[in-house]
Amino acid sequence: MTQAASMPQPPTDDKRWKIVETTMRRNNFHADALIESLHSVQQAFGFLDKASMLWVAAALHVPLSKVYGVATFYHFFTLKPQGKHVCVVCMGTACYIKGGQKLLDEVQQRYSIKENQTTKDGQLSLVVARCIGACGLAPTAVIDGQVFGKRTPPELLDSLDATLKRKVNV
Ligand code: FES
Repeated sequence: MTQAASMPQPPTDDKRWKIVETTMRRNNFHADALIESLHSVQQAFGFLDKASMLWVAAALHVPLSKVYGVATFYHFFTLKPQGKHVCVVCMGTACYIKGGQKLLDEVQQRYSIKENQTTKDGQLSLVVARCIGACGLAPTAVIDGQVFGKRTPPELLDSLDATLKRKVNV
C-alpha cells in the first residue's frame, strides 16, 4: 500500500484540506515536509488547530508532540485563536485584487481588533488566510467554517453581526 493510499481522512469535508493534501502529496508525505505542510494549513485556514495538527502528524507519520513543538516554536505560526467565533479574511492575490483589504479593514474597524486579535468579550477572533481555494468567489471570508464569497464589506459585516447575535443568544 502506498503512503497516499493509507492517508488518513481529513478532519472535515472542508475543501481547503485538499490544498494541504496537495502540499503533502507533492512532498511524497515525507516527514521533512512538516513545516511546509503546516504553512499550507495556515495559509488555507489562517491558523493551526488541534485537528489540523493531528491530521498532519498522522499523514506524515510524525509524533503529534513534534508537530506541536514546531507549531509553537516558529513565530509565523498562529495557533487557533481564543474567540468563540472566528472570521478568516482571505488576502491571497485574487481576493486582494477584488477588495480583500477593504473587507479586512471594515471588520477591524467595526470590532476594534487587528489581525490575529480577539475582541475583549472573547466573541470574535480575526485572522487572515493566503488563499482558501475559492478564488472564483473572491473576495472571500470564512465565518466559523462557512465560506462567504463575493461579499461587499457591508454584506460581510451583516453576516458577521448576524452570526454573533444568533450564536450569542442561543
Ligand atoms: S486568493 Fe482568496 S480564495 Fe484564493
